[in-house]
Amino acid sequence: MSRILTVRGGVPLKGRVQVRGAKNLVPKAMVAALLGNTPSTLRNVPEIKDVEVVTSLLQIHGITVEKDPVTGDLTMDPANAKKASSAEINTHAGDSRIPILLCGPLIHSIGHAFIPDLGGCKIGDRPIDYHLEVLRQFGAVVDKTGSGTSITAPNGLKGTKISLPYPSVGATEQVLLSATRAEGITELTGAATEPEIIDLIAILQKMGAIISVQTDRTIRIEGVTELSGYDHTALPDRNESASWASAALVTGGDIYVEGASQRDMMTFVNTFRKIGGGMDIHDDGIRFFHKGGALKPLVLETDVHPGFMTDWQQPLVVALTQAEGVSIVHETVYENRFGFTEALTRMGASIQLHRECLGSIPCRFGQRNFTHSAVISGSTPLTGANIHVPDLRGGFSHMIAALAAQGTSTVTGIDVISRGYEHFTAKLDGLGADFDVIEANGKAGRK
Ligand code: EPZ
Repeated sequence: MSRILTVRGGVPLKGRVQVRGAKNLVPKAMVAALLGNTPSTLRNVPEIKDVEVVTSLLQIHGITVEKDPVTGDLTMDPANAKKASSAEINTHAGDSRIPILLCGPLIHSIGHAFIPDLGGCKIGDRPIDYHLEVLRQFGAVVDKTGSGTSITAPNGLKGTKISLPYPSVGATEQVLLSATRAEGITELTGAATEPEIIDLIAILQKMGAIISVQTDRTIRIEGVTELSGYDHTALPDRNESASWASAALVTGGDIYVEGASQRDMMTFVNTFRKIGGGMDIHDDGIRFFHKGGALKPLVLETDVHPGFMTDWQQPLVVALTQAEGVSIVHETVYENRFGFTEALTRMGASIQLHRECLGSIPCRFGQRNFTHSAVISGSTPLTGANIHVPDLRGGFSHMIAALAAQGTSTVTGIDVISRGYEHFTAKLDGLGADFDVIEANGKAGRK
C-alpha cells in the first residue's frame, strides 16, 4: 500500500531519535551466518525493509531466522540450507542488491547460487561486473540465464589474487564472503575499508576466519575449512545519523541522535562544523543543531572511506541551499546521484548540474555524459511542492526540504524510505514535524 504524506513546512525538528544497526552492514552480517556450522545471533538490528528482504531470502534457502520479540535480535540457523528456485528468489529479492552477496556463502554451502536481475536505488546503472569477475577468479562458473545469472563451482572456490579496479564496497564484501572458506590464501588489493566492511571482517573473525587489513588497502584472507556461528552487535548507521544531522540544519532544529558514532563520522563532523552547524559530541550519541545565523557554503567532494561518504551528500545538499553563497558538490562515487535536485529546484532552490569534475580530483566520470557535479547558490527560500521520492537518500532529502519549506507539500512514494530509515514517520512525529500520513485508499494512516 503506497502511503502519501502531506507535509506542512516551517517547523524546526527538535528532540531525540535513536539510530540502530547500519543498513549497509546488517544484511551482509545476516548472509555471513550462512558460512557458519552453528547458529549466529545478530543484535542491534533495525526494523527496515532491507532486513525483511534478506530474512525472506535466507528462509527460502532453508535458513531459519528467529526474531526476539523484545530486542529484535535475530538468530539464524544454517543447518538445513538448501537450493531455492529462481522464481522464489525473484519474488523475494524485491529491489534489493543483496542476492549478489549470497553467492559465495551459497556456493560453499550448497554448491549453487542464482542472482535475479538486480534492483537497488536508481543512482546509476549499478552494474555487478566486479562481483561476477571476482567469483570467476575464485573458480566459479557464471552462466547468464533468461531471468538472471546462475553460478556454480564444480571444484569449489580456490583462494586467488584479486585486484579491484575501484574500491567497491560490494565487491570487497563479495571477496570476504567467498574467500573465508575458500581453499588457500586470497590477496585482495584496492579494497574498500568502510566501517561497515571492518565490522563484517570482525564478524568473520569471530566465526574463525583469518583476515588481515594492511595499510595500502590490501586485505589477506587465509581460507579455513569451517567456521562457527557468531554473536555480534551491529555498528550504528552513520548514514541515518548524518541524515538527521542535515535535517536539524535544514529545519533550523536541534536533534540528539542517540547511537551516532563520532568514530565512523569524522569527515562528516568536520564538514558539519565547516558549514556552521552546532554539535555536542558524546560517547552514546551526538547533538546536532542549527546555531542561528547564516550557514556557510562549501566545496565538497564525495569519495570512498575515509572521504566524505556519498550517502551523506544528498541530505547535505538541501542544507547547502540554505547557506549564504555558492557551494560546489563533486560526486565521484556514483555517476547519477543528483536526480533528486529536480524537485528541490521546483521548490525554489538554485542548483545547476555539470558534466565537469568540479573538485580537486578528476574522477572516473569526467568528460563523459554524466552530470555529477552540482553548483548550489544560496540561500533560497523553499516553497511546498508535489514531490515523488526517487530513491532512499533522495527521499529523505525531499522530506526535509518539505519540512523546511513554506507551505504544504504532498510527498508520494515514501515507502522506499523505509528500506533504510527505521520507523521514519514515527521519528518525524516525535521531533514535532507537522504532517499527515494518508493511505492510498484516502484514509488517515498511522504515523
Ligand atoms: C554500498 O553500495 C552501499 N549499499 C551504498 O549505499 C553506498 O553508497 C556504496 O556502498 C558506497 O559506499 C549497501 O551497502 C547496501 P559500490 P555498493 O560497489 O556496494 C561501481 C545507500 O544509500 N560498481 O562501492 O553497491 C558502482 O556503480 C546505498 O545506503 C561497478 O562499476 O557500492 C559505483 O559507481 C546507496 N561494478 C561504485 O562502483 C560493480 O560490480 C561504488 O559502488 C560494483 C560497483
